[in-house]
Amino acid sequence: MSLVHVDPIGIELEVAPGVTVMAAARGAGFTWPTVCDASASCGTCVSVVQEGLDNCGEMPTDERETLTRTLVPLDGHRRLACRLTVTGPVSLKKRGVHVVEGGNE
Ligand code: FES
Repeated sequence: MSLVHVDPIGIELEVAPGVTVMAAARGAGFTWPTVCDASASCGTCVSVVQEGLDNCGEMPTDERETLTRTLVPLDGHRRLACRLTVTGPVSLKKRGVHVVEGGNE
């Protein structure tokens, strides 16, 4: 498990190997902004990597295509949470992450 810190909500997510940050957030009782329901096509889940760039998994082709189409810089700091996997601690910034009503927090 790797810890992913998410601002501005200020939560810590435990993310298992091969699991995306969005899936881990959903599993922990949080919503993450999405329009395409995590199919890597809308770009709504894009998040900014503040720390831990070296711990971010390789960018898959569909993520690269969506970031390019939505004019997001391919600088490695902007990642789709619905495709982002991690191998160690990472700190992200994403507005709009909320607790699911009746969720864990
Ligand atoms: S949720 Fe649509 S691109 Fe990630």
